[in-house]
Amino acid sequence: MSRLPRALSGAQPTADSYHLGNYIGAFRNWVALQEDFEAFYFIPDLHAITVEYDPAKLAERTYVAAAQMIAAGVDPERSALFVQSHVPEHAQLAWVLNGVTGFGEASRMTQFKDKSAKSGTEFASVGLFTYPILMAADILIYQADKVPVGEDQRQHVELARNLAQRFNHRFGETFTIPEAYIVKEAAKIYDLQDPTSKMSGSNPVHTGVIDLDDTPKQAAKKIKSAVTDSETEIRFDPENKPGISNLLTIYSVLTERPIDDIVAEYEGKQYGHLKVDLAEIVGDLVDRFGTRTRELLGDRGELDRILAAGAARAREVATPTLELVYERSGFVKPLGSLP
Ligand code: TRP
Repeated sequence: MSRLPRALSGAQPTADSYHLGNYIGAFRNWVALQEDFEAFYFIPDLHAITVEYDPAKLAERTYVAAAQMIAAGVDPERSALFVQSHVPEHAQLAWVLNGVTGFGEASRMTQFKDKSAKSGTEFASVGLFTYPILMAADILIYQADKVPVGEDQRQHVELARNLAQRFNHRFGETFTIPEAYIVKEAAKIYDLQDPTSKMSGSNPVHTGVIDLDDTPKQAAKKIKSAVTDSETEIRFDPENKPGISNLLTIYSVLTERPIDDIVAEYEGKQYGHLKVDLAEIVGDLVDRFGTRTRELLGDRGELDRILAAGAARAREVATPTLELVYERSGFVKPLGSLP
């Protein structure tokens, strides 16, 4: 029986809200993939504990994350939407994969090097070090074909491929070899105050970051005070005019109009005109987004049911994969079902 190819992705609940960069760079893409893929989207709470964090905040952020993913268009009727810790097979498979991962190989992961450089390796957790192995388990447990991620996660998906190939080679055909799905022309959104660096939730100042839970007024203000340049011409030139180009990208994505069209429309006009119009567009977006998110968060019982159904669907795929992995690994089968 042929099945739809599978897509899988997750976005860490490490901030109080996702931001416009997550929406444009990731969620819109996830939503589009629901058409042609059997999709698995999840909130990687197990990954979120690899750095210092506050448990009460993590719980709240997990709900917000789920609500915002749905508000962004992830359809829980179509795709499995779930919380990583609700599917124990992720952690179980990660342990098995630890056994086929080289210490040197894990040590080459650049994200660990970057993240641990801040605190120093002495204080970085072992969890942060093995994070990419858990991520490989996230992917391989569903036999995922495509993994939509940003460029920064390419190396991790590459590791997942290597581990899958190695396991298959040593223990017999078990895993689908996944592929990173990085949309080349996917708009990358930059910080409004520092338009040469990526819009990021971990930036301590949010004047350059449109949070999806911003009020329309807050969002508008951020757009209007975006850093531009000392010229006056509105044109798309990321190298010389990163601020204006970033605004044009956001405008183009949210209105689904080609950048050239927009540039033509604003010919001879001032930066202020562009900003006022874009402030309204972004304001509308966060307004609609906020309303839907609050609605979803207002009924935790319903949200819990959605996440439980998502986890149940996920486990239908994860359980047989883990069973096969355990069998290949030489683990004696317990009487009854798996632990
Ligand atoms: N590491 C990813 C990020 O920080 C999140 C993530 C965890 C993920 N597990 C995943 C993404 C599996 C894709 C597939 O963005």
